[in-house]
Amino acid sequence: MPLVRLDISHVRNLASVRFEPSSQVNIIIGENGSGKTSVLEAIHLLSFGRSFRSHKHKTYIQHEQDSCLVFAQLHNEHGRPTPVGLQRHRDGQIEVRIQGERAQSVIELAERLPVQLINPDAFRLLEGSPSVRRQFIDWGVFHFDGSFIRAWRGWQKALKQRNTLLRRGKISPSLLAAFDQELIRLGEQVNGSRKAYVERLTPYFLQVLSVLNAELAVSLQFYQGWDSQKTLQMAVEAGRERDIELGYTHSGPQRADLRVKSAGGDALDTLSRGQQKLVVSALKIAQGQLLIEMGRPLVFLVDDLPAELDANHRQKLCRLLESLNSQIFITSVGPDTTDFTWADTTDVRHFSMNNGELSLSSKGFQES
Ligand SMILES: Nc1ncnc2c1ncn2[C@@H]1O[C@H](COP(=O)(O)OP(=O)(O)OP(=O)(O)O)[C@@H](O)[C@H]1O
Ligand SMILES: [Mg+2]
Repeated sequence: MPLVRLDISHVRNLASVRFEPSSQVNIIIGENGSGKTSVLEAIHLLSFGRSFRSHKHKTYIQHEQDSCLVFAQLHNEHGRPTPVGLQRHRDGQIEVRIQGERAQSVIELAERLPVQLINPDAFRLLEGSPSVRRQFIDWGVFHFDGSFIRAWRGWQKALKQRNTLLRRGKISPSLLAAFDQELIRLGEQVNGSRKAYVERLTPYFLQVLSVLNAELAVSLQFYQGWDSQKTLQMAVEAGRERDIELGYTHSGPQRADLRVKSAGGDALDTLSRGQQKLVVSALKIAQGQLLIEMGRPLVFLVDDLPAELDANHRQKLCRLLESLNSQIFITSVGPDTTDFTWADTTDVRHFSMNNGELSLSSKGFQES
């Protein structure tokens, strides 16, 4: 579902940016600090209700403004535009509108506008804590399996309540056992959805990675958060006494992880920076491919495309992204974008960003 018009107000140094992006490739070139990443941040905000740079909303609302606003026209599957908007106030309040109506939650935007981000921070997917990888899996499962979000929310609630009980202490194993029924039922459902998703994703990932770099031998291993030989029921029962002692629930889907292995062990320990970026890009592109195959187009945000990649890999990444037939926003400090190669038939729009002002540049920057 491409964005056919975008209106950004008071996001960082973007006082007012309005433009009509291409439904295929958009390249934004500008100097450091000019506002390129802020455009991607605004699109991300519209999908996730939060920034990828900071969890503190006050940091992205323009100084001395009470709120920021991102508004877009999305093209739905029948080619009709759907207006969507998100306003974030300094006091934290968030307002989401879809077709003029106030939406209940940001989730409704996420469903309409799946957004995938590849940025210089993408390494965090490999080097960050397991929660980063759980978020990665759960984003995919959320779009893949319509029943997931309900189960996930219910399970999270049950887990939080259980941990509160455990923290307070003085709870007997038998009382806890009665409480655990719901946690186990929903936890198994969450785990089943994650497992099925990773199984489905893996061949896409391997295929994409082989296109980006045929020599990288990397595999994915899903760790469910407890002994794979046991059911969650068995793990929770066996761990009850220990949980009471520790004051929290130590095994279950809250410990799940996606381990990325290369021939020598953990991918993180053996791969170069550029190779890590290729692996992470392959993971994200694979997620996108899977969604596209389900008839759910998405938007790719690629911040600072050249970072860490040589010309050959830049070209390969561009070709892969182009083959997805999705809307893509790429930023670069440029001005040389000759490595970004596109088919003649692809609608590529070049924009230049200067001090928070975005303008369409007719020929791009290739010849400057
Ligand atoms: N809350 C804010 N209000 C106003 N300006 C801000 C705010 N937060 C950041 N800025 C400024 O907005 C600009 C944001 O730039 P942004 O990170 O989008 O630049 P960029 O073009 O991506 O740069 P780079 O090439 O270095 O990545 C910076 O100049 C920054 O100082
Ligand atoms: Mg930037």
